[in-house]
Order: sequence, then C-alpha cells, then structure tokens
Amino acid sequence: MQVVKYMFQPHGDDRGQLIALEEGKDIPFAVRRIYYMYETADGVTRGYHAHKHLQQILVCIHGSCKIRLDNGQESKVVSLEKPYEGLYVANTMWREMFDFSPEAVLLVLASEFYDENDYIRDYDEFLSFVRKEASNP
Ligand code: TYD
Repeated sequence: MQVVKYMFQPHGDDRGQLIALEEGKDIPFAVRRIYYMYETADGVTRGYHAHKHLQQILVCIHGSCKIRLDNGQESKVVSLEKPYEGLYVANTMWREMFDFSPEAVLLVLASEFYDENDYIRDYDEFLSFVRKEASNP
C-alpha cells in the first residue's frame, strides 16, 4: 500500500518559516473546503470512515498526531509531526486519527464541500465499496 506524503517547501529566512500551498502546484485537487481539529481530548481517536469521492490532504500544523490508513487489504500508521508534511488521503481509504499531542492542530484541505452522503461510516460497507471499485474501476 502506497502512502503519499508531500514535503512542502518552506520559505524560511531569519524571521521564521512560511509555507504556501497552491492548488494544482502543491495540492493535486481544487480545494473546496478547509477544516481543522484542535483541543482534541487526550486519548481520542476520530475519523472511522472513508469517502466515496472526497480527497484530502492532512497537515499537522502544530504538534503531532498519527493517522491509520486502511485500503481494505492492509493498513499503515503514518505520523504527522512537522508543519511541512502533507498526507494525501484518497477517497477509498478508511482513516482513523489518534495520538494527538497536547495542542495539536490538524488542518485538512478537502476537494469537496461537506456532504454527509459522501461518507462511508460502516467498515463492512467500506469493504464492499472497495471490492466493487476494484472489480469495476
Ligand atoms: P465528524 O464527522 O464527527 O468528524 P470526524 O472526521 O472526526 O469523524 O464531524 C464532527 C462534526 O462536524 C459533525 O457534526 C459534522 C461537522 N462537520 C461539518 O459541519 N463540516 C465539515 O467539513 C466536517 C468535517 C464536519
């Protein structure tokens, strides 16, 4: 299973660091929505879903967290620890976010507006969905 992690180029100088993300250049899709998680309570795991269409890039812009990605056949845990790392999460990827450090801020760039109908929240339904996609690409 391939994990796609982007290393964004910081514009650093003696004042500090700045990262700029442009659609089509740094981000492989048009960004329709941005959301972020912060003040995540200790020990919380969130996510537990996949999507029918939505693509996302996750950036832990402060602190750190871990993401479990599962494509229906295997799963991998990815650590996000630097504000210049972006994890690409394809639609048909079950995801769980956990191990948030205190004060972690997880920023998400999303390819679609919020649509509850795009969510697959049941793991067995997710498995059927990926099997159907594989047999009917
Ligand atoms: P939820 O889907 O529970 O987040 P997680 O990815 O951790 O499972 O979302 C929490 C709440 O926020 C829920 O009421 C839906 C709402 N929400 C929006 O209104 N817009 C959004 O873009 C997102 C991601 C969530």
